Amino acid sequence: MSGISQDPGSFRDPLSRVFVGDGRVVRAFTQEGAKDITAVWGKKSIQGALQSGELIESNIVEPSSVGLSASWTSAMTHPMLPFISYPYEWTFSMLKDAALLQLKLTRETLADGIGLKDATPYNVQFIGSRPQFIDAGSFERRRKGDPWYGYKQFCEMYLYPLMMQAYLGVQYQPYLRGSVNGISPETMRKLLPASIRHPRKGRLTHVVLHAAASTRFADSNTDVKKATAKAGMNAQVLDATMRKLEKIVQKLNLGDKKSTWSNYSERGHYLESSLDEKQKFVRDAVASAPRKQVWDIGCNDGVFSRIASAHSDYVVAMDADPLVVDRLYNTLKAEKNDKILPLYVDLTDSGGGVGWRGLERPGVFHRGHPDIVMALAVIHHMAITFNVPIASQLDMFRDLSPELIIEMPHADDPMVRKLLQNKRDGIHDDFNLENFERLLSERFDIKSKMLLAGGTRTIFHAVRKG
Ligand SMILES: C[S@@+](CC[C@H](N)C(=O)[O-])C[C@H]1O[C@@H](n2cnc3c(N)ncnc32)[C@H](O)[C@@H]1O
Repeated sequence: MSGISQDPGSFRDPLSRVFVGDGRVVRAFTQEGAKDITAVWGKKSIQGALQSGELIESNIVEPSSVGLSASWTSAMTHPMLPFISYPYEWTFSMLKDAALLQLKLTRETLADGIGLKDATPYNVQFIGSRPQFIDAGSFERRRKGDPWYGYKQFCEMYLYPLMMQAYLGVQYQPYLRGSVNGISPETMRKLLPASIRHPRKGRLTHVVLHAAASTRFADSNTDVKKATAKAGMNAQVLDATMRKLEKIVQKLNLGDKKSTWSNYSERGHYLESSLDEKQKFVRDAVASAPRKQVWDIGCNDGVFSRIASAHSDYVVAMDADPLVVDRLYNTLKAEKNDKILPLYVDLTDSGGGVGWRGLERPGVFHRGHPDIVMALAVIHHMAITFNVPIASQLDMFRDLSPELIIEMPHADDPMVRKLLQNKRDGIHDDFNLENFERLLSERFDIKSKMLLAGGTRTIFHAVRKG
């Protein structure tokens, strides 16, 4: 008997459901959904996307052979991806690349008579720095006069967030995390001041017209499908709209050039010898056992993620500075690196799930099982700047991973002193090596430790108590 169970995030498409288990993903189709798949799967555009890897590897199977009940007409299996990430964890360039992939597939399939039911970035995943479309259930037979059903969603989930960053310099990630439905046209219209709206009117028709259309349709009996068909939504018109959108998206740029951590790469405050020692320590600790997944928290430019990557199957590199992660993504992309997944994650603000019952998109801690976590030169920021006690951080690491590589700057470390400068005297007196080591030893066995050459930092490799 198979051990698959339904993915709590899969319920929005009435014609298919996703099940997970036995090391793979199974997509099941109703009778109606199966008709779509049978009609579209052999088409050139779909087969091309499968071959290029832009569409996830998919094998059509008998539902009963993968443990599905007879109520399902057809099924396909997909490989389990190493880590599922969400648009609010992607940097600007990642969301932009996902948007371009969505448009490319929508256009290519449209030319083959295939429609896409939606246009949500939750249907795209990153394998390292490579975006991939994962929702085979999105494709359907396009009926004459069908509009582009995903158009409004494309604007709300891709275009407006990207515009928000590019035109206003405002990070979209908190908005996308706050709403699984993205940014509404009305909100976007209000956000953009008139001075921005008018000179760029051409580009902003997608905002202005949408907002007007939403208001008009929301309260009326207008049949949107009929109205759009009447307006001549043939494939050429839709393709022209998408082509224009492609051009708009391609031109959007992040804009930010500098951030708190964007110049960290020189690591000027480390003696060169201590950096070498730190790298060797990390390498030895990661390489001491086979690793399927490593998490690098506070990865910055990814120097240590790369070391970990040489001794593991997959690294999830997280940092709370969106600009440094964006740069890391672009570097990895240029290398075609699909073993390091860069993500924008602020560990002090990343716990909960979002969407339906908080289960639709689970929190980051529920999406992966790292064999080892690295927290290098980061815990003092979380402890002093964000007041997350060391004991709570260590509880989190213990719950997350059986092994830990962690760097503890001592109370007399120059960076610790700097962080304490604007804090009330005495409130962080427990931030010292002795206290740290005691708290660490309560939860982990210390396998090895090393005082770094500067003399104000100690690095530990620790294994969770059995
Ligand atoms: C001193 S750098 C360390 C970089 C790298 N780990 C190393 O050891 O060279 C600290 C990094 O931690 C990140 N950071 C600080 N607070 C964070 C948080 N709450 N969640 C995730 N990353 C954080 C910063 O953005 C910065 O890139």
